Amino acid sequence: MGIQIAPSILSADFARLAEEAVAVSNADWLHVDVMDNHFVPNLTLGMPVVESLAKATDKPLDCHLMIEDPDRWAPGYVEAGASSVTFHIEACRAPIRTAREIRSKGARAAMALRPATPIEPYEDLLSELDMILIMTVEPGFGGQKFLDICVPKIRRTRQLLDKHGLDLWIEIDGGVSADTIEQCAEAGADVFVAGSAVYAADDPNAMVENLRTLAEQ
Ligand code: DX5
Ligand code: ZN
Repeated sequence: MGIQIAPSILSADFARLAEEAVAVSNADWLHVDVMDNHFVPNLTLGMPVVESLAKATDKPLDCHLMIEDPDRWAPGYVEAGASSVTFHIEACRAPIRTAREIRSKGARAAMALRPATPIEPYEDLLSELDMILIMTVEPGFGGQKFLDICVPKIRRTRQLLDKHGLDLWIEIDGGVSADTIEQCAEAGADVFVAGSAVYAADDPNAMVENLRTLAEQ
């Protein structure tokens, strides 16, 4: 396992997506934000773009579905080439069925929580999942300020996983930067999405390494 750094292509230049995806060669995964203008007030990309990206890069594609009715769409993202598919529990009607479908098609299944959504009601679901995504901003846009109030939830999630002897990834998404990553790693996170911090850096690859070093300490 170990620390994974996943640049979010939401902060890349969408007209040069393949180039921007290949440029972050130090990344472990590429984080792909799918937004439908309903679950969040923003619209990005969908399955055809994921399919093209999968051909353009060897990096695992970590698809974060910020959409209504993820039960219907999630399995299609595995077929499009995603290595992990994350659905928001607030929008999901049948999380066990959806997680099993994602896994049976060969990808990691992940559940995302908005900042105000607690982990505790979903304790019995943990064994069905490969990863928990804890949002550290309200989903919808890159470049927002990290919400410190989410850090205790990272810690509680790691404690719940330990209690059940489960070794899932804990992914953090939103406002991750050199200033905020250490407290998340210390609380138990091991997958870090970073959009603006990476793509706005003078040297995106050096920033990926910088974040990795800070998280590994
Ligand atoms: C926001 C997205 C994030 C976004 C993070 O809803 O889920 O993945 O790209 O961007 P930064 O790192 O700039 O907060
Ligand atoms: Zn995301």
